[in-house]
Amino acid sequence: MYNLEHYLREVSGLDEVTLQPAAGAHGELTGVMCIKAYFEDKGEGAQRTEFLIPSAAHGTNPATAAMAGFKAVTLKEAANGNIDLEELKKKVGPQTAGMMITNPSTLGILEPKMREIAEILHGVGAQLYMDGANMNAISGIVQPGDYGIDVMHFNLHKTFSVPHGGGGPGAGPIAVRKHLAPFLPKPRIKKNADGTFAFDYDRPKSVGKVRSFFGNFGALVMAYIYMTQLGREGVRRMSQYAVLSANYIRVMLRDYYHVHHDRTNAHECVFTDLKQDKENGVHTLDIAKRLIDYGIHPMTIYFPLPQNTGGHGAMMVEPTETESKESIDYFIECMKKIAQECKDNPELVKSAPHTTPVKKVDEKTASTNPQLYCPMCLG
Ligand SMILES: Cc1ncc(COP(=O)(O)O)c(C=O)c1O
Repeated sequence: MYNLEHYLREVSGLDEVTLQPAAGAHGELTGVMCIKAYFEDKGEGAQRTEFLIPSAAHGTNPATAAMAGFKAVTLKEAANGNIDLEELKKKVGPQTAGMMITNPSTLGILEPKMREIAEILHGVGAQLYMDGANMNAISGIVQPGDYGIDVMHFNLHKTFSVPHGGGGPGAGPIAVRKHLAPFLPKPRIKKNADGTFAFDYDRPKSVGKVRSFFGNFGALVMAYIYMTQLGREGVRRMSQYAVLSANYIRVMLRDYYHVHHDRTNAHECVFTDLKQDKENGVHTLDIAKRLIDYGIHPMTIYFPLPQNTGGHGAMMVEPTETESKESIDYFIECMKKIAQECKDNPELVKSAPHTTPVKKVDEKTASTNPQLYCPMCLG
């Protein structure tokens, strides 16, 4: 665990790490609690009431700010999907405790102005929190600490062990700059002069324990093994493959599906159903269900939310570094076939899936009045 903390310090470029939080959202809450404790310690607790959150942020970001007792203030993105610095300057002030920024964003776009953003926040004494759930795009390439962030979390279950969609359990360690370190959860792991290890409970400013033992220990072990196997150069290659794969998919499918922000993307690309809806009345959900017929687990759908994708249902594709060229090509081929089916036989797509024991359900009734069956025997 001591070594894993060291690896994560290296990847983040920050000073101290705790492994306790059990998921990304839990890491967010722990990080924002540290920021709150920091301001209380400085005597600015009553003044710092707001957290700035871009509108395309993952839902956990505003939820975290609210749970930690802050008002979540929404920042609209610029037309190209990046942070709008003018909008930021308008909303930031002495009441701002911090900003949560996801880089690359949930739109799969890298934020090129991180340093300027950090300067604007630090100029009013606020803190910059980075949601590092998408670190599989930049790990080993850039250390977020270099561009001015004060605290970040990792989603180890996405980046360093079971790439996105593994189904948990998760691990959401956070890394902080020195001034926030006294507030980290306790105990901390320390290495004694004789090389032995101990827990350090003597942390009077700590926000306390946030999870039993060290969070989901098994997930931490997996991440440790993954990073040890990859090594420094392997971690960089992991990010390069994840980014290359996502860009390959965007370019190969851009003539078939509308791409929301058709520009070089990071580890994921976002398509929408604009074309299929307009021409054939086929929607994102139908396309996702049809993928099941081809043996593919559908991508994340309707996130980013329609309000961030021009009102059209999103299909967010994140191949990660682990998919082979063959499996990516198979996915592309299936998506092309489905685009053709939408034109030739839209009903086939709208009534998918056809090959599963349970066919298309009425989503609304399924959630308001579920009839639950044993998946093994359907009884
Ligand atoms: C950008 C972003 N932030 C936060 C989270 C929350 O992570 P978790 O589901 O581990 O709580 C996710 C999860 O996918 C995410 O994509």
